[in-house]
Amino acid sequence: MQFENTLAFAKKMDKNDPLKPFRKEFYIPRVNGKDSIYLCGNSLGLQPKSVEKHVMTEIEDWRKYGVEGHLHARNPWLYYHHLFTKPLCDLVGAKKDEVVCMNNLTVNLNLMMVTFYRPKDKQTKIVIEGSAFPSDYYAVEQQIRFHGLDPKENIIELLPRKGEVTLRTEDIVATLEKHKDEIALVLLGAVNFTPGNSLT
Ligand SMILES: Cc1ncc(COP(=O)(O)O)c(C=O)c1O
Repeated sequence: MQFENTLAFAKKMDKNDPLKPFRKEFYIPRVNGKDSIYLCGNSLGLQPKSVEKHVMTEIEDWRKYGVEGHLHARNPWLYYHHLFTKPLCDLVGAKKDEVVCMNNLTVNLNLMMVTFYRPKDKQTKIVIEGSAFPSDYYAVEQQIRFHGLDPKENIIELLPRKGEVTLRTEDIVATLEKHKDEIALVLLGAVNFTPGNSLT
């Protein structure tokens, strides 16, 4: 595909978008009387219209069975991670023994850093985007302290250039190159946190 920076090209891509029919499956917040352009996918996404029914199923089963819902609810809670495996595989393109749904994001982040952050000798620093989601930042600070190190000296923040809001790939690469002998871990989301959260 040849990208063109024009309105006509954007409209053409919208028209042929195979995911287009999914738009009507979501509630879209209105701003100044118009549907907002909702780009926030990494924090709280839009509410699917089907979600209320599914949440109510669990509320009803909780009321009906109490703790026995773990075994007798329509979706037995004890096995909830198995229930998510197939859709998660489809979503991320993985095999079923490669994914598991568990915990919340920050707990998982800490678990991953316990495994992958192994500061040794000069290689002690963690690279993270500046103005990252606060709990991501706190988790990074906590992991550094856990190893008896000072977060002030061991976090390298990636910042956009003056007057810009997104990180440039070449700047990320330059930072990694510059600090390669001190970096123990790079923690980067697929979406830049700050611009990924604007609601216009
Ligand atoms: C980038 C990022 N990190 C961390 C969190 C916190 O997630 P949780 O409450 O599941 O730990 C969020 C939630 O929106 C997020 O968007």
